[in-house]
Amino acid sequence: MENTNSDAFVFFGATGDLAYKKIFPALQSMIRHNQFDIPIIGLSRAGWSLDYFKDWIRKSLEEDGGVDPDAFSKLTANLQCINGDYQSDATYEELCRALGAAKRPLYYLAIPPSMFGPVAQGLARLGCAAGARLVVEKPFGRDLASAQELDRVLHQSFPESSIFRIDHYLGKEAVQNLLYFRFANSFLEPIWNRNYISSVQITMAEAFGVGGRGRFYEDVGAIRDVVQNHLLQVVSLLAMDAPVGRGIDIQRDENLRLLRSVRPLDPSEVVRGQFLGYRDEKDVPKDSQVETFAALRLHIDNARWAGVPFYIRTGKCLPVTTTEVFVKLKPPHTVFDVMEPHQSNYFRFRLSPDVFISLGARVKLPGAKMVGEEEELFVQRKAADEMTPYERLFGDAIRGDAALFTRYDCVEEAWRVIDPVLGHATPVIEYEQDTWGPAEADRLIESHGRWHNPKQDGGTT
Ligand code: BG6
Repeated sequence: MENTNSDAFVFFGATGDLAYKKIFPALQSMIRHNQFDIPIIGLSRAGWSLDYFKDWIRKSLEEDGGVDPDAFSKLTANLQCINGDYQSDATYEELCRALGAAKRPLYYLAIPPSMFGPVAQGLARLGCAAGARLVVEKPFGRDLASAQELDRVLHQSFPESSIFRIDHYLGKEAVQNLLYFRFANSFLEPIWNRNYISSVQITMAEAFGVGGRGRFYEDVGAIRDVVQNHLLQVVSLLAMDAPVGRGIDIQRDENLRLLRSVRPLDPSEVVRGQFLGYRDEKDVPKDSQVETFAALRLHIDNARWAGVPFYIRTGKCLPVTTTEVFVKLKPPHTVFDVMEPHQSNYFRFRLSPDVFISLGARVKLPGAKMVGEEEELFVQRKAADEMTPYERLFGDAIRGDAALFTRYDCVEEAWRVIDPVLGHATPVIEYEQDTWGPAEADRLIESHGRWHNPKQDGGTT
């Protein structure tokens, strides 16, 4: 069979924050596991020498758990570094020379989305696009209109089958397990609908701020940064119907069908917050109206979910760093004392940093009285993903498997849902750091109880 694997990894934005924190550690790990043996060409505008670049990569690995001498020497033996302007033909000419005999390069773009178009055009102009794959980071566009325009521009140089839109959440083991757990068991499907589920909450909390990335964050804000992509993907995996097979597009077809039934967001059902101190961050204006927190209520208008609200909440500088899904079942009709009905009868999916699935139930306390207590049954418990999302996704992209990448029609549907609340559609409300955001977020959920606040140690309040 013809080998269609990518034969060079060309990294635009190779000296950036993402490269340092996630990409080089992922590449080292892939090399260690014999999953990566192609040359790496790093492009940037930083003007670094190759030796400086190698030292910087070494530091990134040291900070991420350690340098594996063997893997590091393989990584750097085949490493080249190109400095240049992404708008200039000279950069692409140098790249073409550096590619040498490579016929099927993978171009990975960890650069601002506004540069995706110029890079794709530059590659095509210099004849480096044929046979190549283009992997782009999220967010894909800034809204529906800009995503459509970006798509049009990329398609002038690359066919859809060669474009891989990364949403690293899809590469998370725990996120994939949502789908597996739902459809590999028979007990969930009968109750996984509006007859038994009263509401769903998804919380993606981060105890840290924007980490010096003020310029990037000012351009996106929480809704574009994680709701339009990561959290809508989680909604989709939780709510979609069973895929009818396992081909590359089958799951994405279900993803699309689900997103199509999500109602566009209503600004009155969205709360935007900003942590106190955000405006003192580097590159953030003193009157910034960008949200670092968002809470919102989504509606899925289909036969399975009509009337079941999906609450999403995310924020920086919250009390913990964790992502959890809390699926609340309708309360039973019972003659027994149930003190806090909203606290029992639920499923909890912890997606990070550790991973578990649990079921909250009430059980009788020993003794003569028919009184009970809350117990949580853990179906699965793991420390963390063994394979990082980027390892999984790069491996797939190198092999040309797009199943875990976002198809354009799904991106477009996600923007359709989000578009009405972008910009300053709702006011931004300040909140104290180390709290669960503005009180307005609590009011948003009042008609369905209260937010379940995950704890760092895996507990819940
Ligand atoms: C990124 C966002 O996509 O996801 C960041 O840009 C966020 O703001 C990050 O912190 C969270 O990802 P993870 O995998 O570390 O939970």
